[in-house]
Amino acid sequence: MPNKTLTVTDNRTGKSFDFPILEPTIGPDVVDISEFYKNTGMFTFDRGFTSTASCRSRITYIDGGEGKLMYRGYDISYLATQKSFLDTAYLLLHKELPTKEQLDSFSLELKKRSFVHESMKKLFDAFPDNAHPMAILSSAVAALSTFYFDHLDLDSPEEVMEMAHRIVAKIPTIAAFSYRYSNGLPVIYPDLSKGFTENFLYMLRGYPHHHVELSPIEVQALDTIFTLHADHEQNASTTAVRVVASTHAHPYAAISAGIGALWGRAHGGANESVIRQLELIDNVDNVEKYIAKAKDPNDPFRLMGFGHRVYKNFDPRATILKKLRDRLSDELNINSQYVEVANKIEQIALNDEYFVSRNLYPNIDFYSGLILDALKIPKEMFAVIFVIGRTPGWIAQWIELKEQPDMKIARPRQLYLGPNDRTPQ
Ligand code: SDX
Repeated sequence: MPNKTLTVTDNRTGKSFDFPILEPTIGPDVVDISEFYKNTGMFTFDRGFTSTASCRSRITYIDGGEGKLMYRGYDISYLATQKSFLDTAYLLLHKELPTKEQLDSFSLELKKRSFVHESMKKLFDAFPDNAHPMAILSSAVAALSTFYFDHLDLDSPEEVMEMAHRIVAKIPTIAAFSYRYSNGLPVIYPDLSKGFTENFLYMLRGYPHHHVELSPIEVQALDTIFTLHADHEQNASTTAVRVVASTHAHPYAAISAGIGALWGRAHGGANESVIRQLELIDNVDNVEKYIAKAKDPNDPFRLMGFGHRVYKNFDPRATILKKLRDRLSDELNINSQYVEVANKIEQIALNDEYFVSRNLYPNIDFYSGLILDALKIPKEMFAVIFVIGRTPGWIAQWIELKEQPDMKIARPRQLYLGPNDRTPQ
């Protein structure tokens, strides 16, 4: 028995059980309860997995109390201000920051893979006008697996990395196509002379045979947003990816599941909800009314962009985005009325006992929407932007799961409260 254990005593029987304590590099110790049911005959219950570590990981570390976030040991503020999104994607996938040569080769690899099979366009044609791009994106990514069915049993690291590069490269193209189709616009194919982020904006905004002006400021702002979204430990959508991957399903089916989970307004869909909420509140005179609604336990209204399961301090990504918003407010012509309302919400909420006592601070979504709105990205595309940023993280988490020799299928138990056996004899 390891020397560090947690002893649990059942006071109904006086019986005690020891469970090993696992020590992390940094962060809270972890009690290994893998044998809990076998030893005690009882399940543990943890609503929303608030106290449960689902896996061992070496990718992302979050200190919720300190408001700290690191990808592979690099602080998010360093990556967001000193490195590009492609640097960060390479770091997540390859475990080290790239040299100049490695970055150039990675960028070329993604460019080569940025096109999708022409047959994919038939899928896009099947959707009604104004279909939500997240619905199209999750369907298209699952459909992508039909073109790479041999990737169900990836048995070589090279194949795994090829699969990873492919999905990172194709998601922006599928995302741009989703938007173009849902608005009846001609699709714009990738332009291999452009960088990753610039190319996405070009595919979103361009027109055939028409030069579209993309300012470096806009490209840099979006690149920073991608970096800030690149990974975030075992959040709901990453957990969805891991659960699907644990059954040995196709990796693109796992990514499609992640997109579905991210779409919810409690998760990645919050950025779109924040902007719709600022529209609803409309001016600073209405802020108090909506803060009261958010505090009312009988009112389903929530202050979107506030609160976080892990951060009980400022979300460091929100802090970076707020500085970016204020720095670019003139160049990007950020909606000053939205900024005024957002600042008023923040000023009131951060001094209100309801929010303070629950450690509810602005999260990444509170500010990202304002910048995306200023980048003239349609609201319904905000969660899609989140997907483009998060895909390298999801795939890195999938690869890590696959590499674990003792990987087990995810299969939790339950607290059953249904009827006892009442089958007619
Ligand atoms: C993301 O997990 C990740 O890492 C996610 C993410 C990532 O990068 O992957 O960081 C991205 O999803 C950020 C979060 C975006 N979502 C929102 O902004 C939606 C608004 N926020 C909430 O719905 C909520 O705060 C959650 C979902 C983010 C967190 O919910 P928890 O941890 O389950 O907390 P909870 O619902 O139990 O809330 C605790 C208390 C409750 O009050 P009491 O029951 O104690 O009286 O705080 C209240 C809640 O009612 N509360 C809010 C609130 N968030 C929590 N009250 C008003 N407005 C809010 N936004």
